[in-house]
Amino acid sequence: MTVERTAAALRARLEGRRPELLLTLGSGLGSVADAVEDAVVVDVLDLPGTAASTVPGHTARLVCGQLAGREVLVQAGRIHLYEGHDAHDVTRLVRVAAQLGVSTFVVTNAAGGLTDRFTPGDLMVIDDHLNMTGTSPLAGLLRGGDPRFVDMAGAYDARLRDLAHEVAGDLGLELQRGVYAGLVGPAYETPAEVAMLRTLGAHAVGMSTVNEVIAARDEGLRVLGFSSVTNVHGEGVATTHAEVVEVGARAAQDLRRVLLGLLERLDEAG
Ligand code: HPA
Repeated sequence: MTVERTAAALRARLEGRRPELLLTLGSGLGSVADAVEDAVVVDVLDLPGTAASTVPGHTARLVCGQLAGREVLVQAGRIHLYEGHDAHDVTRLVRVAAQLGVSTFVVTNAAGGLTDRFTPGDLMVIDDHLNMTGTSPLAGLLRGGDPRFVDMAGAYDARLRDLAHEVAGDLGLELQRGVYAGLVGPAYETPAEVAMLRTLGAHAVGMSTVNEVIAARDEGLRVLGFSSVTNVHGEGVATTHAEVVEVGARAAQDLRRVLLGLLERLDEAG
């Protein structure tokens, strides 16, 4: 199934809307989609070539409409490598959005904090990532003419990151910043893995995002990423999915405010 066919099917459902930005919502953050006005909602499963998420807290909806006066496509719910999907499947909607003319990708996730600077409920702007999934959406067969060796220096747009911090500051919110390590999961990390990730320079760890960002850069999209820190790894601290969803839901309120402020001022980031 080609990306073009999925894109054509989605375009036909959007009633003429032309989104300029794709916003992907991670665990617990789905309520941000409720802020979209004049929305058309498409069940991802109604599109050819797409797969459903099997994770509670991840519905599989695409919501296209206005957010802060801009046409956006919101992906509430994603699929993951740990569900058995490959790197091409998990990045399909990013490529579909690019086909629809989207030029900016705002990616969000739930993540475990790796530094005691963080507390659950914090939002972290992703400065950079470590792809530790052992795979890539650029591996295997590519479409003719596609570059395979994509530059990932500056993958997370510096001007968008600065704007996010500015907007949050104006709202009286403080955003963290750091490096996100993307792993396959689905088990949460052992203490030894937490120690390894800290040594490697990661500040947050999760099970998504990195392959999506590689695909987005391959498509020439500008990228901004947020992690909602739902738990912080420490001695004797257990991690549960229920906690991830619950804390994520609280962080969603802050994320929504930052995103709306950011969209209002998006032109300032060029
Ligand atoms: N590890 C990996 N993924 C996560 C975590 C975590 O601690 N928290 C939320 N998503």
